[in-house]
Amino acid sequence: MHNRDESISTTDFSRLCQLIYEEAGIVLGSQKKTMLEGRLRRRLKALEIHSYRAYCDYLFSDRGQREELVHLVDVVTTNKTDFFREPAHFEFLTSQALPEWAAQESNRRPFLIWSAGCSTGEEPYTLAMVLSEYARAHSGFSFRILATDISTVVLEKAAGGIYSTETVRPVPHALRVRYFMRGREPGSTRVRVVPELRRTIEFRRLNFMDSSYDIQIKADAIFCRNVIIYFDRPTQQSILTKLTQHLRPESYLFMGHSETLHELDLPVDPVAPALYRRLHGRF
Ligand SMILES: C[S@@+](CC[C@H](N)C(=O)[O-])C[C@H]1O[C@@H](n2cnc3c(N)ncnc32)[C@H](O)[C@@H]1O
Repeated sequence: MHNRDESISTTDFSRLCQLIYEEAGIVLGSQKKTMLEGRLRRRLKALEIHSYRAYCDYLFSDRGQREELVHLVDVVTTNKTDFFREPAHFEFLTSQALPEWAAQESNRRPFLIWSAGCSTGEEPYTLAMVLSEYARAHSGFSFRILATDISTVVLEKAAGGIYSTETVRPVPHALRVRYFMRGREPGSTRVRVVPELRRTIEFRRLNFMDSSYDIQIKADAIFCRNVIIYFDRPTQQSILTKLTQHLRPESYLFMGHSETLHELDLPVDPVAPALYRRLHGRF
């Protein structure tokens, strides 16, 4: 019997990398082999499979492609996120993007925002708090949030809206009091997003690698932060071309601070670092 702790062979590693690239767009370099072995160990255990070789046989079988691929994607995605991550974006939203939007006579409908690559929900819930605060101060303003990710595990966690008190620490005190409920058990270290806030968000699985995105909306803003760093340039070009088609003219696209769209051919103008604006007309 093989030992679970053997390493992935070079051939299997390159097959896995190719599959992960084709399925999720994620580029795994050879330096990620140990990381992949570590993360796959949980899958081997869950499936009671005792070697990476046998795991690959299963994964590449018809049944594995149907049932295991989704778990492989869960395992290889990096889901690091935070409440109020890169806070300047939320300030820009309330001080500039929302007043501009509200000033347009025609905007009598809800403001639509898309958190694309939402991970465990901290980003869309931050948006929901910021937009709710704006609505409290501006009567007649309402909003809806679409939050998507490829990983079913993070989406499940996000939809539950349950976090540790440690995780919600970056949330300003007044907002924490207004938008989170404490766990019922005495001494609980968990809090839950209040139902009114949870109801403003629709969580959905969406793979950026799909040939087109099955969403009917044109967003008034898109947050796609700290996602494209995992893709190569051709994949970034292809994904952002599709994404910007779902952004209304003159609306804003928020990227992660280490992500630049320089050298990509997209219908957006740079406004500030990591901030872009959809052009009129073209495309
Ligand atoms: C590092 S998190 C970023 C979370 C949040 N946007 C932020 O900035 O805090 C990146 C997310 O992108 C998702 N992702 C990776 N590849 C994807 C794909 N092909 N389609 C959709 N989401 C993907 C991952 O599952 C992960 O949750």
